Order: sequence, then C-alpha cells, then structure tokens
Amino acid sequence: MARIIFSDGKELQDLPAVQGRLARLGITLRHWPAPTERRAQELLDKKSLSDTEKEELLGFVQNRFEELKREKGYQTRDMVVIHEDIPGLADMLGKFDKIHTHSDDEVRYILAGSGYFGFVEPDGGQFLLEVNGGDYINVPANAEHWFEMRGCTRCKAVRYFIDTSGWTPHYTGRNREIAEAAATA
Ligand SMILES: [Fe+2]
Repeated sequence: MARIIFSDGKELQDLPAVQGRLARLGITLRHWPAPTERRAQELLDKKSLSDTEKEELLGFVQNRFEELKREKGYQTRDMVVIHEDIPGLADMLGKFDKIHTHSDDEVRYILAGSGYFGFVEPDGGQFLLEVNGGDYINVPANAEHWFEMRGCTRCKAVRYFIDTSGWTPHYTGRNREIAEAAATA
C-alpha cells in the first residue's frame, strides 16, 4: 500500500488520508489489487520478462485498460520492468529523478516491486510517495514531480498513454529538498 514520507521523516499511511493529500495536487491514487492467478504470480516473480511474457501479464489486467479507455480515452499501454541488471539503468532512471513535468498525465499501475514519486506542493514543500504492487496512480499533466527507486531495485508497472510524446520530461529547474541518498526502508 502506498505511503507518504514527508521531508521531516513523518509518514502518512492511511489510504483515505494519503488519497486526500494527493488530491490537493490533482493526483489520483487507487488501490487495484495485482492479479493473483498462479501464472500471473509466476510472471510477477520473475526478474525480467520477454516481450511475449509482458503481453501475457498485460492480459491479466486488460479489464483495467478497458476501464481507462472508457473513462479517460487512453489509447495504448505497455509494461516497464526495472531490475538491477538492466544495462544503462542509472542513465534511464537519471532522466526522471530531477523535478519535471509532462504535457500529458503520467499514469502507472504498479504490479510488483516498489518505486518513489516525489511531489512539489503549492507552498513549495516536497514529499515522497512510495508505491507498491496494487497501486494505480495518475499524475496530472504539468504537476511537478520526479521518480526514483531509492533502495529498491525492482518494479513492474503498466504505463497507460494517449500520446507517447507526452512522456518527454520538461525540467523545471527546481531543486529537490529530499536527499536521494537517504533511502527509507
Ligand atoms: Fe514523470
């Protein structure tokens, strides 16, 4: 389950409270349990997935995609699998760990593993949101945010999008106030 970690180390874990805090920034967080079928579980437990296996896993959450197509007009989706042995992983993550915005919503459904979104509040304050398997998040276009893995090495997530050009990060130049190295367990 998602939790918020503030820059002073305080945490918010209660789902409605976390959702309320995110809603102030226009961010939607839903709890969509990851698929529990045996085959889905096998795929979720693997370190890396072939393209065929990614499609197979996407098939287990096709109902979510159909819902998003109806609700919000999403056109396509893919699966991102992050693990410690991906060549060029640091460079890949380095594109998104600085504060940025996108021209389209950033929509992720985390199926396994963890990751951290950082957000900037209207008063300039910053906090982290830890996301885990079963968390669906919609970060609206133009919201200042970043993404990092901190102590985690693995994450499997579905990305939904209307237009892939919407993924380009636009760096806002604002500095992060939450240190990268201070990973929380
Ligand atoms: Fe982003």
